[in-house]
This record gives sequence, C-alpha cells and structure tokens, in this order.
Amino acid sequence: MKIVDLRSDTVTKPSPEMWEFMKSMGNSRLGDDVMGEDPTVNELEEKAAKLIGKEAALFVSSGTQGNLVLLLSQTRPGDEILLEELSHIYGHEVGSAARIGGLMIRTYPSNKGVPSFDYLQSLIRDKEDIHEPPSSLLCTENTHNYHGGTIISIDVLKRMKDFASNNNLKFHLDGARIFNAAIGLNVPVSEITKHADSVMFCLSKGLSCPVGSIVAGSKEIIIKARKFRKMLGGGMRQAGILAAFGLIALEPKWIKRLDEDHRNAKLLAQGLKSFNLPIRVHPTDTNIVIIELLEKVRALKIITALNKAGILAFNISKQKIRFVTHYGITEDDINYSIEQIGLILREKL
Ligand SMILES: Cc1ncc(COP(=O)(O)O)c(C=O)c1O
Repeated sequence: MKIVDLRSDTVTKPSPEMWEFMKSMGNSRLGDDVMGEDPTVNELEEKAAKLIGKEAALFVSSGTQGNLVLLLSQTRPGDEILLEELSHIYGHEVGSAARIGGLMIRTYPSNKGVPSFDYLQSLIRDKEDIHEPPSSLLCTENTHNYHGGTIISIDVLKRMKDFASNNNLKFHLDGARIFNAAIGLNVPVSEITKHADSVMFCLSKGLSCPVGSIVAGSKEIIIKARKFRKMLGGGMRQAGILAAFGLIALEPKWIKRLDEDHRNAKLLAQGLKSFNLPIRVHPTDTNIVIIELLEKVRALKIITALNKAGILAFNISKQKIRFVTHYGITEDDINYSIEQIGLILREKL
C-alpha cells in the first residue's frame, strides 16, 4: 500500500547530499563539543548566527530544549512570561517553563498569532505593587504551528518588539519553522529575526536534518544558554556528526526548497476546498494545512480511516486535522492524497 506521511515535517530524513557530506568527514572534523572543540559544531554555530543576524548561536538537541534554555537564560524563577494560548511552548513542551524554570505563565489570545496590544498591556504587572510577580518576557511563534503554519508579519513582530522594550520585557521568538516564514515572505531570515532578542529554530523539521535545533541571540544570552544546556544534560561530545547535516541544510539552495512544500500545501488545500463538504479549510501560508470538521464527527475517526488508506495525518483537536508537507512528499503524493481524503470524507461525513 502506498503511504503518504503528512503527520509532520519532523518525519523527514536527510538528503543524499547531506549523507555524502557527513560520510566524507573524518575524525579531524570532530572534537569534544562540551569543551568547545568540535570544529563542525563550531562552524555550524557560526554559520547559523550569521544567517540569523545574531552575535552567537548554540547547537541544541531539540526545539523543546532550545526554547527552554533561552527562557532560562532570560528570566529568573518566579518571573511571569507571556505566551500565546496555542503556542508550542505553552501546550506541547511538558510544562518545562514552570517545572524547570519556576516561571509563572500567562497566556494571551490572538488572531492567528497576532495579539491585541491593548490586551497584552493589560497583562503587564505593576512593578510598584509589592504583591505582583515581575513580568519579564514575551514570546511569539513564527510560523505558528497550531494556527496552521501561519506567518506573523514583520510589521507585527516589530510592534511586539517595541511593546516588549517599552515594558522592559525580553522578546523570544520560537522560530521552529522560521525559514518557512522567510520563504513565505520572500525576505532574508534576518529581516524577521532582528526583531527578537532570542530565536530558536529547528534543523530537524522542513530542513530535514535528523536531529537538532539552533538557539541564537547576544553573546551574553548564549553563554548562559550553553550552561543551561549542560545542566539539562544536553552537552553532546563529538556532535559534529550531527552538525554536518545542518551545514548543508543552511545552504541557500536547501532553504529555498521549502517553497516546494508550500506549493504542495496550497495544492492540497485547493483540492480539499473543492470537495464541497462540511469542512473548513484554514488559510494556508506555508507547509501546514488544517481542516476543521463542521459536523460532530470526531477528527480521530477520520484519521483512523485515513491511516487505513495510507494517508497519515494528526488530529490537533477533537474537530481539527493537520496535514504537513515536507521533503520527500511530491506533487503526485498530494494528488493521490486528495483523492483518498475525498473518498473517506464523503463516506464519513
Ligand atoms: C512551533 C514549535 N516549537 C517547538 C517545537 C519543538 O521542537 P522539537 O520537536 O524538536 O522539540 C515544535 C515541534 O513541533 C514546534 O512546532
């Protein structure tokens, strides 16, 4: 049976070029990264920092670890941080900010990641009030996963940064899929990231590396992040073997490839819209397509039927199904998926 895996861009595997480069490396390109001596990791960190437009960067094992070390580096236990209510940090990182960082979390609602600035202002604690915890950090997510891979515009990011500065907050960007945002907006990634104090992005999603994320910011933040990474057990030794994939992933050609995923996502969304069934297809900015079932059929029931037909997807709520396009998914796969999804939705709805 043909399988089309649209659950996530985390299922991607490295390209032949990545393998080639990794296999060509000898021991001279490896060292103990905890001692700062792995030349390949050092090269990746320098390349990433330059691309993102920050003073320094650090290779970490995952996006979850990356977000956490950046939160820990810019806050103190007991601080309050502002997270969007559907953000990955709030809902899908096992509560680490509270458990490990001792942080108070306040969520804000949004229109696809875009906050109301009046509402945000109402969440800022009064510094003069002896009872209140200090507000210390604002977070955003771009692209926004659970809103359907939506892009938060540069103008909104700039306003968020100004808001943060005016209220003495640090501004953190969970940019797990920041290159999707850059390709979607057709701007250099640094035009987006320059508005944040700290940025995390993933190598292991659309960029299709097997493991790893990057955190970036000022030298001061990254020195702290390195220490917190060690505390969390994330100090890897000859990690150049993994960083090698990242060096190829950050080449312009590979970043531009994301456009292919965006085209496939749009094709899928158009196909789903043409069904004339009780579903709502959310707007598709990048590589994520969300459909909402408008009748009381559970997403899980549809997903189970889709799985049996070889189309793999995720339910992100009781009524919403998420499809993600990525490296390895072709236009033919998408046309086949549209056909299969149509058959199943017509049968079940
Ligand atoms: C927006 C966002 N942030 C962070 C992460 C965490 O990345 P990881 O799975 O590498 O821990 C994800 C993973 O899907 C994500 O979508």
